[in-house]
Amino acid sequence: MTSNNCVRIGLLGCGTVGSQVVRLLQQSRCDYEARSATCLTLQGIAVSRLDAQRPAWVDTSLLTTDANKVVDEADVVIELIGGIDPAHELVVRALTQGKTVVTGNKALLASHGKELFELCANHNASLYYEAAVAGAVPVVYGLRESLTGDRINCVQGIVNGTTNYILDKMDTQGWSYEKALSVAQELGFAEADPTADVDGLDAGAKCALLASLAFHSRVTMEDVSIQGISHLSAKDMKDAKDAGCTIKLIAEAKRIRGADGKDAISAVVAPMLIGPDNPLFSVGGAFNAILIDSDAAGRLMFYGQGAGGAPTASAVLSDVVAAAFHCKHGGHAPRESTYASLPIVDKEHAQAAFRIRLSVHDEIGVLHRIAGIVAQHGISISGLQQSGSEDENRAHVVVTTHVTTQGQIDTLLNELRSTPELCTVASVIRQ
Ligand code: HSE
Repeated sequence: MTSNNCVRIGLLGCGTVGSQVVRLLQQSRCDYEARSATCLTLQGIAVSRLDAQRPAWVDTSLLTTDANKVVDEADVVIELIGGIDPAHELVVRALTQGKTVVTGNKALLASHGKELFELCANHNASLYYEAAVAGAVPVVYGLRESLTGDRINCVQGIVNGTTNYILDKMDTQGWSYEKALSVAQELGFAEADPTADVDGLDAGAKCALLASLAFHSRVTMEDVSIQGISHLSAKDMKDAKDAGCTIKLIAEAKRIRGADGKDAISAVVAPMLIGPDNPLFSVGGAFNAILIDSDAAGRLMFYGQGAGGAPTASAVLSDVVAAAFHCKHGGHAPRESTYASLPIVDKEHAQAAFRIRLSVHDEIGVLHRIAGIVAQHGISISGLQQSGSEDENRAHVVVTTHVTTQGQIDTLLNELRSTPELCTVASVIRQ
């Protein structure tokens, strides 16, 4: 390989994923060079603390706290810092210089994607982000390239391993939410601060990226209606199980008919009741899976490890090989495709059927009153079920609805919550 073919790689961040990227680069460099017809050099690794514990294979002579220098001296910048600051500033710096960036940063892309893709177009730079959605699972490539000849109607996925692990344990072991979360933290699935995972924010960012790719439109995190899992109880899971179902945190981006009769996008992250006829039903543990429904290909399922050092590093390296080839032999990452510019349905107009579990005072006429309140809100009931509770004066009532809007459900819930003498709302799950 001639020295002209040398691609200088700068790595930003050397944590769980970054250190695995270093390992794979060392272990398989000859293969990556043959696949990209380039010569790869890891030029520098920017870290926030030089003295942090790192695996022995990380060459400490490459470490620096000067991230700008790492960006400025690289052809391909791998950003694995995560979060918005300082990742945003460094990615902007690289793209403005016409460089190639490989990132796994879903939060950055879902909030600043427009700016970053415009920088790519204006500076002939490239942005690759296979690792940003579902770790090792090649769903970004699948949507961005493999399915670009098709018309996609729905993307529905389990894109957060932490919450899937928690819900799986609640389902299969009967654990409470709190116990499942604490075991997930002990095993290292869940962060010490699990907010981004359990509140659905991580899945929300991924949902925005999937929706943008599937529908050739720009969908941001703010466009996604997001609900997490922390309100779910063992009772919710038992009810789901009794109905032959389970509950999964689902990211769902759908093409729907808007109010004007034209196509629109609905993007939602929420706990949903999933039956055994849905392939996502059997996705257990911390695994991810994404189902795609398209006109010509029909139904496709992508399944695999959505997090973890080596699986995510696998996705990063796939981008590095493509990036290195394009750097030296022409071409660039696919540009953002937003030509369809489909409108995004307001959160309150997002449609679903709901399952509302109430705790009620067990007295004559209570079901009649609840049914009346639901009807006053223009919501059609598909089922009404009562069961006993530990407190003999109270009962559990489950109201299931036909398809309605989030706005209608929200106003119904406000009214139900303002009648504590009648009932309390225990949980609301889409089905
Ligand atoms: N924390 C995420 C998960 C992985 O649990 O799936 C990174 O997005």
